[in-house]
Amino acid sequence: MTRTCRLLWIVSITLCLTAVQLAHAQNPRCCEDYCYSRDHDRSQSKHFATKTSYELIHGSSSSREHIVPNCIPSKLWLLSRHGTRLPGKKDIQVLPQALNNLRESILDNYDNRRTAPDIGRMCADDLDLLRSWRWDRNISVEYESFLTDQGWSDLKLLARREKDRFNEVFNWPYDKQRYLFRHTKSQRTEASFKAFVEGLFGDGAYNFINAEPEPTDDTLLKPYDFCPAYDANKDKNKQPDSELNKFLRSRIYLQTLSDISTRLGFRYNLSNDQIEAMWDICRYEQAWHLQQYSPWCSVFTKNQVNILEYKEDLRYYYQNSYGYEKSADLACYAVNDMVKNLGRSDGQQVIAYFTHEAEIQIFLTALGAKKDRDSLRAENYYAMQNRNFRSSELTPFAANLAAVRYQCADPVEPVKVIFFLNEKALMFDWCRVGLCDWSEVVRRYERYTKADCAKMYCGGSGASSWALHWTTMMGIVLTIAVGLLQR
Ligand SMILES: *[C@@H]1O[C@H](CO)[C@@H](O)[C@H](O)[C@H]1NC(C)=O
Ligand SMILES: *[C@@H]1O[C@H](CO)[C@@H](O)[C@H](O)[C@H]1NC(C)=O
Repeated sequence: MTRTCRLLWIVSITLCLTAVQLAHAQNPRCCEDYCYSRDHDRSQSKHFATKTSYELIHGSSSSREHIVPNCIPSKLWLLSRHGTRLPGKKDIQVLPQALNNLRESILDNYDNRRTAPDIGRMCADDLDLLRSWRWDRNISVEYESFLTDQGWSDLKLLARREKDRFNEVFNWPYDKQRYLFRHTKSQRTEASFKAFVEGLFGDGAYNFINAEPEPTDDTLLKPYDFCPAYDANKDKNKQPDSELNKFLRSRIYLQTLSDISTRLGFRYNLSNDQIEAMWDICRYEQAWHLQQYSPWCSVFTKNQVNILEYKEDLRYYYQNSYGYEKSADLACYAVNDMVKNLGRSDGQQVIAYFTHEAEIQIFLTALGAKKDRDSLRAENYYAMQNRNFRSSELTPFAANLAAVRYQCADPVEPVKVIFFLNEKALMFDWCRVGLCDWSEVVRRYERYTKADCAKMYCGGSGASSWALHWTTMMGIVLTIAVGLLQR
């Protein structure tokens, strides 16, 4: 090699390296490499908050937790959330267009604009998934929030597993004296009830089984619908100083939005609404079609999913759980109903209610379940990574709390209870590996059973006083109207 030749060689290599460096500067790195299509484990699907699939959460049918020596299960009291559902009206109106725009932009970023990052870019398989994605046209507003096929299976299979486990309780044909069912006024809870009885009594059983009618103010299954204080607290959580909003402005959350945007090839930061749209459809599609890969889940890495999950948890924590001091009181009627039913050997053996996530969350709070030592806050995401309060674990689709009464040979404490959350025994420190003495259950929940729920459930400002406000307002309106007419 001649001297000049060697020089040229060095120069060209240097140029080349500079070019590579320039390219790096142009297409910033964002995050770890991740290819969703090639991930057969997809463990992040267990962190989709209240849109997590029940199949990924519930206890195993081969578990032996429910078998207690010298005890026979004699009653089951169940509070269940509806199964997997379709999106609500607003989502069905907004999502198709918003997602189509995002899809086109992302593909354009990768195919034409070449603005994808050099490190942490989406893999080709994931892009192909996105390329062939379309909104399912069958999902229209007339079916908003309806139970899906998967949602039907969630409840039907739950019923079958419970029937297997607690054969002594369920091994009876349908009879009003033995079984009590009730659901809230919505398609998804009614269909969940039907799926559940089909699981218990066979195909089409719902044709001859009626649920109890819903009372006027359903303070048992939807107490939060009749409580202005609950709404006021909900509004408080929308204020800028709420932990949720502080988290949305935190460095860690903004960095996540920025990383997601960079990874998708955007040179600007996507809005929170755009991120939410992708997060929602990913979680829905994954819950509807367990075996399929939703392309929208490929836009998030596992770490990013954990951060989005925490954002959801912060909201539920301050709306329905330990972060709202009145939340447990809202469950007053439900706790009383449970204690009353489990406390006597007569009456129905199976009591099953079908309701919504908020009810399950407030009920768990009243039980004192899954409480953490520290509270969830905007600034302690890392410290709370192993928290008990995780909405994915607590309230996935079809989440349920089953309190089972056991009749035992123990002469001192013949009645015992195990509380199962999503088919896993809850471990209270006042019980022995989940098995609780009845006398202790009564003592623990005395606060509710000795209270006047009408006063307690909404701090004395519940349904009746809401009606009062209404009457006062109508009175004022009428006075004004009469005044105007008299002119
Ligand atoms: C829409 O519904 C029809 C009829 O029930 C069904 O055959 C079709 O597969 C559905 N389409 C999608 C995309 O699920
Ligand atoms: C995007 O957000 C990040 C993190 O907050 C910020 O550092 C960056 O400047 C933003 N990018 C643009 C283009 O605004």
